[in-house]
Amino acid sequence: MSDPETPDHPAPELPLRSDHCGTLRAEHVGRRVALCGWVHRRREHGEFLAFVDLRDHTGLVQCVVDGAEDLRSEYVVRIVGTVRRRLEGTENPNLATGDIEVGECEVEILSVAEPPPFQIEGRVEVDETIRLRHRYLDLRSERMQRNLRTRARVNSAIRGAMEAQGFVEVETPLLIASTPEGARDFVVPSRMLPGNFYALPQSPQLFKQLCMVGGVDRYYQIARCLRDEDLRADRQFEFTQLDAEASFVTQDDVLAFISEAVAAAAEAVTGERPSAFPRMTWLEAMERYGSDKPDVRFGMELVELTPLFAQTGFNAFKASCVKGIRVPGAATMTRNQLDGLTDDAKRFGAKGLVWMKVEGDGTLASPVAKFLSEDELGGLRSSLGAEAGDLVLIVADERPRVRHVLGLLRLRLGRPPVTEGGLHFLWVVDFPLFEGLDDDGSPVPAHHPFTMPHDEDVHLLDGSPDDLLRVRSQAYDLVLNGWELGSGSVRIHRSDIQERIFDLLGISREEARHKFGFLLDAFRFGAPPHAGFAFGIDRLVALLCGEENIREVIAFPKTQSGSDPLTQSPTPIAPSHLEELGLRLLPPKT
Ligand code: AMO
Ligand code: AMP
Repeated sequence: MSDPETPDHPAPELPLRSDHCGTLRAEHVGRRVALCGWVHRRREHGEFLAFVDLRDHTGLVQCVVDGAEDLRSEYVVRIVGTVRRRLEGTENPNLATGDIEVGECEVEILSVAEPPPFQIEGRVEVDETIRLRHRYLDLRSERMQRNLRTRARVNSAIRGAMEAQGFVEVETPLLIASTPEGARDFVVPSRMLPGNFYALPQSPQLFKQLCMVGGVDRYYQIARCLRDEDLRADRQFEFTQLDAEASFVTQDDVLAFISEAVAAAAEAVTGERPSAFPRMTWLEAMERYGSDKPDVRFGMELVELTPLFAQTGFNAFKASCVKGIRVPGAATMTRNQLDGLTDDAKRFGAKGLVWMKVEGDGTLASPVAKFLSEDELGGLRSSLGAEAGDLVLIVADERPRVRHVLGLLRLRLGRPPVTEGGLHFLWVVDFPLFEGLDDDGSPVPAHHPFTMPHDEDVHLLDGSPDDLLRVRSQAYDLVLNGWELGSGSVRIHRSDIQERIFDLLGISREEARHKFGFLLDAFRFGAPPHAGFAFGIDRLVALLCGEENIREVIAFPKTQSGSDPLTQSPTPIAPSHLEELGLRLLPPKT
């Protein structure tokens, strides 16, 4: 039974917060609400009244406040008021709550605030260092709120998908011996054993393999990884992987597990389940896109021209490989722009760059056209499908260099912004086991040294250096819109093959024992065949949020130079602390 509202029977008291700002709609008209949040903006309205936009993590709502003169931006307030329709003609269609406002407001100031160093939803670009110095203010923005919440949804979907597939979350240590992922380790000095250091994990790689020997069967972890490497848009010192490993599985099984987790994450964000991820061999990716992480959102594929120029009289094209790309509509480029492209090509490693503009009548206009035969020019046009108004770019050299240079030019000229073109997931499979030979002729591994060669190629391990470079590995990458999302492989679990690989890599028995002895020992006690994968959650979330830089999806990231302007890390430590750790500093390098 409810009492009528009279002075003797006051309305039941509202909780500290009854509703969220951004959720109020026309259907709530008449409701008495208690809102809590930050003063986003105050606009005077006549002599006494002011419009106060109140903000919480769900959005903004306009409150009409009598006597708001002491409310300033970013004050934290509680406003109790009644939802009412806005006057006709004053609705704001750009605001989710734009049909209503909150009137008859009583305001309680919960916290005062100094003027913020930048506007929370400012239209001006705020300098990165200032944003990070006051990250807690930056986090109040709609963009950061959305990104952090998207990230949480992705983590949750990944956990759900991995657990539904029988994976068990195991936490692995942060203070470890070195992991072989190829970057520099961050190290932590030991106080108890002065002169000794832990490494922070570049990944849980060796521990997850030990879990397999330990019978865990299917392991996963949302794992923090640390790598001391130069920072870029898609790289931070600290990042997060979905790390997984499974026993008694094939490459196909791993691809299916990971596709499921990634698809679930994408669906949790977009509401749409991505279709099955296509596969491409590494060789095809390199030949068609000049990259092992092809951005397949756009065409401009590399076209093979080597046979066309087999007998050419043009010196620059007398090379073991000639390839070209067609840039649609780019014949309008000026001489200056073309010189710029040529300089780019040279910086990428080319000896030169041939450009040709396709004229209205189909002729190829180029400073080098006079050195080419009619057959060659005709062949070029048809191989590239060149049409009037296109620009054609050609590079001749050794095959890897041609692919590399044209792959980069293709990205430079055609790559759409991160928010365009949808999500194009792609598995790249059959990576080579070795990416080349180093100066003393030993092969350089393309992945870590525990990667299993392709069954059909194991015999090539006993062959010539050329044979070695042809050995495919059971290693695979997941690519999204030209970003490497993750990598994995079937691991070597047989000590004879592992020893053979170490020998080939020039890793001596002593070195192998020293670095990975504990893993090799474990393998002597019954190692199941196993395979795994890890993908970068920061990268996945960034692309799902339409962000170019993973720092936008990390709550407290580092700047490009590796520092944190908020906490001032890294910082010197006290001499007594150094003493305790048995450390003495060298004078700074000049
Ligand atoms: P890999 O070294 O390829 O493989 O790393 C897997 C994925 O982790 C992400 N990643 C990064 N993200 C942000 N900042 C960084 N500095 C950074 N470095 C890597 C990328 C990358 O694709 N243990 C193996 C996996 C395995 O074989 O199972 C590994 O770590 O998205
Ligand atoms: P050159 O013979 O060095 O005077 O070069 C003639 C033209 O061919 C110039 O436009 C060069 O940029 C171009 N060129 C030279 N070497 C190569 C190459 N390896 N691949 C493509 N273009 C080249």
